[in-house]
Amino acid sequence: MDTLASYDELPYDSLPLPETQPDFLAAVAKLHGFDAPDPRRARILELGCAQGGNLIPLAWRWPESDCVGVELSRVQAEAGAAFIKRLGLPNVRIVHGDLAALPEDLGAFDYIIAHGVFSWVPPTVQQALLDVCRRHLSPQGVAYVSFNVAAGWATLLPLREALLARTAGVAHAPQRYAAARAVLDQLSREWDDPVLLDEIAYLKTAAPSYLFHEYLADCNTPMSFGEFAAQLDAHGLRYVGEAGPRRAVVELEDAWGLIPESMAGRWLDAECALDDALGTRFRRALIARADASCAQPPKADALDELAFYADLASDEQLDLEHDSAQGFVNPAGNKFLVENALAKAALIALSSAYPRALCYSDLIAALHAVRDGFGVAGEGDAARFRQAWFSLVLMHCVMPTLPAQAAPELADELGSHPHAHALARLQAATPGWVVSGTRHVAIDLDAPARELLQRMDGSRDQAALVMEMGTYLTGAGIALPPEQRAQRVDFLLWQLVRQGVCMAG
Ligand SMILES: C[S@@+](CC[C@H](N)C(=O)[O-])C[C@H]1O[C@@H](n2cnc3c(N)ncnc32)[C@H](O)[C@@H]1O
Repeated sequence: MDTLASYDELPYDSLPLPETQPDFLAAVAKLHGFDAPDPRRARILELGCAQGGNLIPLAWRWPESDCVGVELSRVQAEAGAAFIKRLGLPNVRIVHGDLAALPEDLGAFDYIIAHGVFSWVPPTVQQALLDVCRRHLSPQGVAYVSFNVAAGWATLLPLREALLARTAGVAHAPQRYAAARAVLDQLSREWDDPVLLDEIAYLKTAAPSYLFHEYLADCNTPMSFGEFAAQLDAHGLRYVGEAGPRRAVVELEDAWGLIPESMAGRWLDAECALDDALGTRFRRALIARADASCAQPPKADALDELAFYADLASDEQLDLEHDSAQGFVNPAGNKFLVENALAKAALIALSSAYPRALCYSDLIAALHAVRDGFGVAGEGDAARFRQAWFSLVLMHCVMPTLPAQAAPELADELGSHPHAHALARLQAATPGWVVSGTRHVAIDLDAPARELLQRMDGSRDQAALVMEMGTYLTGAGIALPPEQRAQRVDFLLWQLVRQGVCMAG
């Protein structure tokens, strides 16, 4: 097979995926007592990388890294290669080919990423994917492999079956997607199961490529965590920990640290029980070679060696004096209830530093500065704060990273001539690409914002940008009074600086 027609016809929305960032994976590994290689100079392999929307921003961020993507769909691989050529980025390439037939001379990799691939390929390719991890992981390397979990998918399978059956006669992907949308409308009238109705409502708003490649793909084989762990074992690999957000951490006895190896089986059993209890649908497994030594469950002590960032807002009057549950929301709309008073102050400090990260000791100093600013007396309970912070990190309310990983040349504020970096400008100029922030998030930009970003090449001052955007908006039929136009441009510039796409100076 030299291509995948379904992905050629309906390419996957190729986005930056924060949980695949090597600095984040290294931080998760550290929580498990395992030192992964320095991402800044790492070799990174992404299997099934689509057009490289995840891999290319990583290569951009770490010019000394060496990044290789493998993609079987010719259309997607060629789109990625063309984008890289236009960007002139020397440390990344996308190989068009089958991950099950990789050239031996690819060498060893410090990070291997396979997001949305394992459950969506035939069993022989699943085996090949784990073989690639075993053969190509460097001794301290880590792999990220996501998969659909049987516990949660048991409820969703009737929906997949109905969509497959009722669109079976439609040959091409875009037409089959359109047929599936109509079937969703029928099913929402016919069915009354609340879980399925929620999923149908979600699918109606989801990207077409998600609905098609998740529900109408030839393969979608959810697996239990136990079965997945057994397959790792059979391939000389081991499960290190979960790289996805956790709603619960399995706590076994304190004796854990005394006899870790003999208890390893129980840890895995506990993970399975957790999936059953929570109805887990999707896992992001962090994997290492079988001989890697690591700690399970993760340890809060390791927080001292990490740095953190967060982009949160709260519309509540925050009480920094008392423990009381209050809501913080991230840009994806996920809401986190935070009780610990010190943690609330820490989230304020971290969100105002975004996109910069603070190491644990700086975070403590910053949270006390926030408390002082609010006139709150006393030191608070440091041990309780650590536990609260650990939970927020495991939930991904706060993202952990390694200290000193941020690109230093990014602007904290706009210079006189706003200058976005070349990757952001090319992403903005290229249909089918999203603009990625320095923290590897997709920035939600409308057409005028993409237009503005393309003009931010350092040659125009803010007044010139406002003027040119006025002409553009009028041409697009959006006539705004000059004051509102300037406000709109100011807001967009602020948003782009906050997401770290502007250069200093
Ligand atoms: C669901 S998409 C996920 C894309 C991307 N990893 C992401 O999460 O955005 C699966 C990708 O794997 C690619 N793929 C499937 N089988 C493959 C194979 N045998 N070798 C290489 N790529 C493959 C598909 O073409 C598709 O781009």
